[in-house]
Amino acid sequence: MKDMMNAPFVVEMRKLTANMYRLGWDERNGGNISYMLDEDTVWEYLKPDEVIRTIPLGFDASAVAGKVFIVTGTGKYFKNVDDDPETNLGIVRIAADGVNAELLWGYRDGGKFTSEFPAHLMSHMARLSVDPANRVIIHCHPTHVLAMNYVHELEEKSFTHTLWEMCTECIVVFPDGVGVLPWMLCGTNSIGEATAEKMKEFRLVVWGMHGIYGAGKTIDEAFGLIETVEKAAQIYMLTAHLPRINTIRDEEMVELAEFFGVNYRRDFLNL
Ligand code: 13P
Ligand code: ZN
Repeated sequence: MKDMMNAPFVVEMRKLTANMYRLGWDERNGGNISYMLDEDTVWEYLKPDEVIRTIPLGFDASAVAGKVFIVTGTGKYFKNVDDDPETNLGIVRIAADGVNAELLWGYRDGGKFTSEFPAHLMSHMARLSVDPANRVIIHCHPTHVLAMNYVHELEEKSFTHTLWEMCTECIVVFPDGVGVLPWMLCGTNSIGEATAEKMKEFRLVVWGMHGIYGAGKTIDEAFGLIETVEKAAQIYMLTAHLPRINTIRDEEMVELAEFFGVNYRRDFLNL
């Protein structure tokens, strides 16, 4: 067996959590990450029949039964992951019954996966149904996205349109737009179901007055989506109270989307 500390997916999780903490998006235990692991790689580090304990999921995840995920622990601080991955992260396999998770590594202090695991797993299932290569779900509390939630209408078309106007490359990076949910109670199956419904259509979902979800084939894709939205939200918050003299016009957004060959939400423009 190879050493788990050197596993590429553990190294990626350590770097990602430290980076997100430094960006100020994951105060205290804020935020959570789940990453579906490549099965050829994971068994170089773990024995498939050595289950530490079984943890009930509280919902049916049969669509991903047998899949293995590395997941941040509930109540754990992103700032502490790098120093102690084995306590702050866990590797779980969704059991054949679809309603339990088998802990294979981590949560060394007796902990468990994030309280947002319903939203994560349901989002994985939704994204996999439209993109079989999806592997990563990231949730965090980016500062400017949150600030924007208090002063901008929480409606998908107008929220996406405003973000697209804030940086030239936004429409190219997230042409599918941003899904928006109203404030809802977090940590529940209901918010998980609502998020997953949006994830069939969007790779980004804002949780009103709470934070954001991003999905991707890689950590870079999911992180890059959130990073781009956060940058656009920052520009918005820096300018929202000032007279707007210039903007990126809808015709220019069309020019961008066509030049870069992306399939964008035409109904989110006002043409
Ligand atoms: P966890 O500590 O359970 O991951 O919760 C953090 C969070 O951001 C809840 O939305
Ligand atoms: Zn949160």
